[in-house]
Amino acid sequence: MKELRLTKGSDNVVVGEFADVEKPTPKDDQVLIKVVVTGTNPKDWKYIGAGKQPRPFNSGDDIAGIVEAVGPKVLDFKPGDRVAAFHVMHDPHGSFAEYAIAPAHTTFIVPPNISFEEAATIPLVALTSAIGLYQELGLPTPWARGTDPHNPKGRNPIPIVIYGGTTSVGLTALKFARLSGLYPIITIAGGSRDIIEKDNLADVIIDYRNNPNIADEIRKALNGQELKHAFDGFAEPPTSDPIAEVLSTNGGKISGILPYGDGKLPNGHKWKMTYVGSAHKVYPPFPADDVEVDKEFAYVFSRYLTRALEQGKFKPHPHEVLKGGLGGIVEGLNRLREGKVKGSKLVARIGDTEGL
Ligand SMILES: NC(=O)c1ccc[n+]([C@@H]2O[C@H](COP(=O)([O-])OP(=O)(O)OC[C@H]3O[C@@H](n4cnc5c(N)ncnc54)[C@H](OP(=O)(O)O)[C@@H]3O)[C@@H](O)[C@H]2O)c1
Repeated sequence: MKELRLTKGSDNVVVGEFADVEKPTPKDDQVLIKVVVTGTNPKDWKYIGAGKQPRPFNSGDDIAGIVEAVGPKVLDFKPGDRVAAFHVMHDPHGSFAEYAIAPAHTTFIVPPNISFEEAATIPLVALTSAIGLYQELGLPTPWARGTDPHNPKGRNPIPIVIYGGTTSVGLTALKFARLSGLYPIITIAGGSRDIIEKDNLADVIIDYRNNPNIADEIRKALNGQELKHAFDGFAEPPTSDPIAEVLSTNGGKISGILPYGDGKLPNGHKWKMTYVGSAHKVYPPFPADDVEVDKEFAYVFSRYLTRALEQGKFKPHPHEVLKGGLGGIVEGLNRLREGKVKGSKLVARIGDTEGL
């Protein structure tokens, strides 16, 4: 089979080459998937050409396709199933190929109402946001009972601030916050705010651009309520500083998707990094409080995704299909690297690749 391998050229530019490799065989709990559409993520360009990936590498992790074969311990899937999956980051047989491997516990059935293009936008960001909100911040899951005495059906009077509501991770966190019945949901976003407004995913949207009053605007939106939970889907200092100014010093928690400076925030708050790798294994130096527990969580949450998608409760991210299939990935990742992709996920159909 063919796979696309990526590395960095001069000026950090992503470059790629095709390689012929043997079609892998799924072991134990692994699923072999014929990739129909691959998704992309910023990490696909960030970590190539150095560290764990010094040589050209197939760095794709979002798989959407059809089960080709399963390992002997896989009970949930069979050949022919339509699935999406989060591949183990930095391992071989990623999604920029004709076939890819994923563990069964981060694979889920794609219901008939969802296309492969839509499905490819989901696995990595969904597990990132879910681990952030439910494992790191300990918020109630969408299937927990509501605690609002005036409206107990699925409502939780817990305010949350989500920074970066228009990043793929941030928008997905907003969707889960709504499904968990949290309110008010306050988010900080920029020019792509229409993707939040379209599905009414936040109660208050604060603009991050040239805004020195973010802390005051959060205070106003809270209307006297204590803020105990915040999630940062952008996490480049000082994004979380104004949130920490407002966060309760009595048990307030803040987590986000990158290491944040020295981890110290205003008012003595400590940063807690959310890392999606903990759905699979420990990736030093990233923290992993309890990988075994996060693996169980990822299994349960992946099953929930199928149900929420089928019921229309959870919608995929907006997407753009790259021209030329795998041949379009290099151009797409370079656009992502330059910050030119706004409010959208880039996906590629393997069948559009020239010569396949
Ligand atoms: N720790 C983990 O496990 C993990 C997992 C996934 C991703 N990540 C990291 O999370 C980050 C976001 O990834 P992603 O895929 O969600 O990104 P993305 O979808 O590519 O984000 C694009 C959006 O970023 C927004 N943005 C740009 N500058 C901003 C700022 N100063 N404040 C707030 N928003 C800003 C823009 O919003 P507007 O258009 O509204 O301006 C833009 O639409 C990346 O650094 C990625 O490497 C980490």
